[in-house]
Amino acid sequence: MNYPVGPIGVFDSGYGGLTIFQQLVKQLPQYDYIYLGDNARNPYGIRSYDVVYHYTLECVRHLFGMGCNLVILACNTASAKALRTIQQRDLPELNGSRRILGVIRPTTEIIGSYSQSGHVGLFATQGTVNSESYLIEIKKFFPEVKIYQEACPMWVPLVENNEHNTIGAEYFIRQHTDRLLSRSPDIDTILLACTHYPLLAHQIAKFLPAHVQLISQGEIVARSLASYLNKHPEMKARCTQRGIRKYFTTESTEDFDTKAQIFLEDHHVRAEHLQL
Ligand code: DGL
Repeated sequence: MNYPVGPIGVFDSGYGGLTIFQQLVKQLPQYDYIYLGDNARNPYGIRSYDVVYHYTLECVRHLFGMGCNLVILACNTASAKALRTIQQRDLPELNGSRRILGVIRPTTEIIGSYSQSGHVGLFATQGTVNSESYLIEIKKFFPEVKIYQEACPMWVPLVENNEHNTIGAEYFIRQHTDRLLSRSPDIDTILLACTHYPLLAHQIAKFLPAHVQLISQGEIVARSLASYLNKHPEMKARCTQRGIRKYFTTESTEDFDTKAQIFLEDHHVRAEHLQL
């Protein structure tokens, strides 16, 4: 059967997914991509399961409508709260030959191997923490590793409002960093389990002892996508390869263009508006 071909869709609640997108285009520049940020309804991290599920599904439908056969939920909150339901309940009805992947599985498969002590800390949104997705998934791959979760509700608004490099931001960053480290002196690895948080990495690092390493997900997710496409040649053949990138936002395109440029310095970003 001949299926239509199309770009790879990358979805996030806002700008944070660009930290994943940036690594995807670095490791797999040959593919075409559509990035969609639901900036108008951000943040997702404080919202209920039902709301995150409905918002995510709506955006996935739009990406399918734009021709994407493969969609990456470059958002931990959406991956934790919506991915499984969409994969199991909606995808077969929408179009069983399309695929949606998240960022939690690829990360949990590998995170335990970064730690010497077996004590791993994790910063995430309240929604991701409450879902316990990381605790459940990491246990499958690294049953002996101890995980300490810390929800940081202020961090996404700081990034979305471009306040993350300010003195004011340091207060909230230090608050959560101290709180997480106080749980165990053995933590030697901290996972940034929210795609927005790599933007805060250098601020967080100021409050960490030198032996504690900070892990962002972008490279991990990009490596995992490369391996997925190699293992699934039928999907690879359905992803167009002309190096074209398009950006859509549900909010102001001017704001998106300015902000996206911070993440993607070497790309020219001209977003289009998506009316929900
Ligand atoms: N960037 C998203 C994540 O990885 C969530 C941000 C939000 O709260 O919208 O969890």
